[in-house]
Amino acid sequence: MIRILGIETSCDETAASVVALGEGEPQILSSVVLSQIEEHAAFGGVVPEIAARAHVEALDGIVEAALADAGTSLAEIDAVAATAGPGLVGGLIVGLMTAKAIAAAAHKPLIAVNHLEGHALTARLTDGLSFPYLLLLVSGGHTQILLVRGVGDYQRWATTIDDALGEAFDKTAKMLGLPYPGGPSVEKAAASGDATRFAFPRPMKGEARPDFSFSGLKTAVRQAATEIAPLSEQDVADICASFQAAVSDALGDRVARALARFRGEYPNVKTPALVVAGGVAANKTIRATLEALCRDNGFDFVAPPHALCTDNAAMIAWAGIERMRAGLVEPDAMDFVPRSRW
Ligand code: KG4
Ligand code: ZN
Repeated sequence: MIRILGIETSCDETAASVVALGEGEPQILSSVVLSQIEEHAAFGGVVPEIAARAHVEALDGIVEAALADAGTSLAEIDAVAATAGPGLVGGLIVGLMTAKAIAAAAHKPLIAVNHLEGHALTARLTDGLSFPYLLLLVSGGHTQILLVRGVGDYQRWATTIDDALGEAFDKTAKMLGLPYPGGPSVEKAAASGDATRFAFPRPMKGEARPDFSFSGLKTAVRQAATEIAPLSEQDVADICASFQAAVSDALGDRVARALARFRGEYPNVKTPALVVAGGVAANKTIRATLEALCRDNGFDFVAPPHALCTDNAAMIAWAGIERMRAGLVEPDAMDFVPRSRW
């Protein structure tokens, strides 16, 4: 039995979790996530300085709660895994240094985990997926398609050349005077909107280059909003619906390319899978687009539960277990320096 304490502080969630793996399926013994949304809402986005301070204040208590919820103590933990990058450096320092202190005091090994690896391996914790598979990560900080070949073996097939998709939602919401975080606000407003009223661009659609781009779309939204200002509630709803349709369409085009490439590179994989992760994956329009795309192309659509798709520490603890099992724990992890751009 391996039991690992995970710590995540790379953005605006302070999180700790204990995950165990014995003979059978892995078990999340606890997963505590404290969101700082309220601290940042007034600023319309995450303020790094405020985030770092909030992590300092909360982390000790969150770790204690995770151990208590799991009914365990540090003595029974096999290792401490912490996010060491990429992310906001203030938060990374708080999490990694706390993990080092706990590991040193309890005489346990430390595992420095890449946050993206945490997202990439979650589907193996929740769905027991086997390698290789495709991961679409769409959050406030990332928009990527990764080929997941094995533990520590990833290939980035596409990334955004400007804004992350969640960021595009957040900025659109801000422009329209909708509350932060923007994704859920835009989705809610879009429900009563006309998605055909504005013909927003579908950035990168049809292009050979595999990457994403969302800043042109943001500019188009700003122009439309400025032209028809002052905006009625219906105008806002129509802009949101049209924006969401453009985003889903653009995203679908990029993902379709990746599915085709996967088929080409792995013709022998019987049931290929696309895993989605990140806060934006909660969007129902986007989800429906991706589900249909997978169905049409013979891919399994794998969406881990929302709480494990957004930032959490269970995925970090699990990545620690995967690394330990694969013999990939760095012997000098205690010297590891946080890497904001890892
Ligand atoms: O994964 P996440 O919780 O945190 C990180 O960014 O790491 O993602 C947050 C992002 C925010 O930009 C938020 O606006 C977006 O996900 N989001 C959504 C929805 N829910 C959250 N975007 C579109 N539709 C949603 N329903
Ligand atoms: Zn994340």
